[in-house]
Amino acid sequence: MNYDIRDIKLAKKGALRIEWARQDMPVLRLIEERFAKEKPLKGVRLAACLHVTTETANLVSCLKAGGAEVYVCASNPLSTQDDVAAALVKDLKVPCFAIKGEDNKTYYKHIKSVLAAKPNITMDDGADLVSVIHKENKIFPLGGTEETTTGVIRLRAMQKEGVLKYPIIAVNDAQTKHLFDNRYGTGQSTLDGIIRATNRLIAGLNVVICGYGWCGKGVAMRASGLGAKVIVVEVDPLRGLEANMDGYQVMPIIDAAKIGDIFITLTGDINVIRKEHFLRMKDGAIVANSGHFNVEIDIPALEKLSRKKKRIREFADEYILPGGRKVYLLGEGRLINLAAAEGHPAQVMDMSFANQALSAEYITKHHNKLKKEVYKVPEAIDRNIAMLKLRSKGIKIDTLTPEQRKYLASWEMGT
Ligand code: ADE
Repeated sequence: MNYDIRDIKLAKKGALRIEWARQDMPVLRLIEERFAKEKPLKGVRLAACLHVTTETANLVSCLKAGGAEVYVCASNPLSTQDDVAAALVKDLKVPCFAIKGEDNKTYYKHIKSVLAAKPNITMDDGADLVSVIHKENKIFPLGGTEETTTGVIRLRAMQKEGVLKYPIIAVNDAQTKHLFDNRYGTGQSTLDGIIRATNRLIAGLNVVICGYGWCGKGVAMRASGLGAKVIVVEVDPLRGLEANMDGYQVMPIIDAAKIGDIFITLTGDINVIRKEHFLRMKDGAIVANSGHFNVEIDIPALEKLSRKKKRIREFADEYILPGGRKVYLLGEGRLINLAAAEGHPAQVMDMSFANQALSAEYITKHHNKLKKEVYKVPEAIDRNIAMLKLRSKGIKIDTLTPEQRKYLASWEMGT
């Protein structure tokens, strides 16, 4: 097999960090305990194309406890935590094909290495596994799951064109996923990544957020909390209005380009920040992306425009534009929260990965009844995860009285 036992010291560091994350993943731990008894994933060969982090290692541990054979590769060339990859190989005996900073060719070679195991379930973050399988395979897995907004958009496009060959559960669309992971997870980890990459004080800066979906909302909220003056750029009138009433300035990117100190893209679309925007930026402007792919900032245009480029910090490249102005690109335009920081904290990944584990169990049990479509996580699973998470925090909520339930079910309101 094409993997090796990684450096022992690195694996030890990874094991301790995985243990640290585990403490904040009580819902996943409960699922793992049940899986260890019931073995619902016995006979499953599961290929996981995920960010290789301490939280992912805990998901892998849960899936293995459930009886699955698990194979792991990275879902982004810059997001792998090498100590975690080492611990996965050494302690969990899981084939893990991922190296931080791998080039594109290696990234796809690693995807193919995982697919060589002929998985019957795929677990994707961005739909790269599904995409390669559809290009190369004749036989398809029983089902799969998808973690992120961008992946779900790709998969729905495949379904619409009638080319999707096996059922996928859109974990991203579960409420216990996007309301917490996308908003609070991306919100905190994106600022964490930008701060680690630059060590800049955020207070008083103009921070331009491109895209006001759940991720953009979270980043705007946290940037504002750090004292930034937040400007939101949108193409959707409802979201633009929402940003306005949330208290932010809203304007087109061409106007924001002149006043922003830090630009953050989270749109899921291509070339949001382009040549004409770089040309208007202030000296010292910082540009970062927290959307899934490194396509939101037109990096080829920035490269073409620049007279000179140098790596000034580990995750910051300085570009000198005509006239001498400097623009800084963080993390090569890749997910800054995973490139320069550690991704979302375990407290939110607990719920995202509880959805992943329970969706894998659901596919194993129900694949015969599923069509070649994109499915929601069953509502009962979503609500149960919310209940378990509340319980783990020691929070109780009320239940409706029989009278209240009856009132809500009746149409004779007000009587
Ligand atoms: N996506 C965002 N943060 C993550 C994390 N900590 N682990 C896995 N996937 C992630």
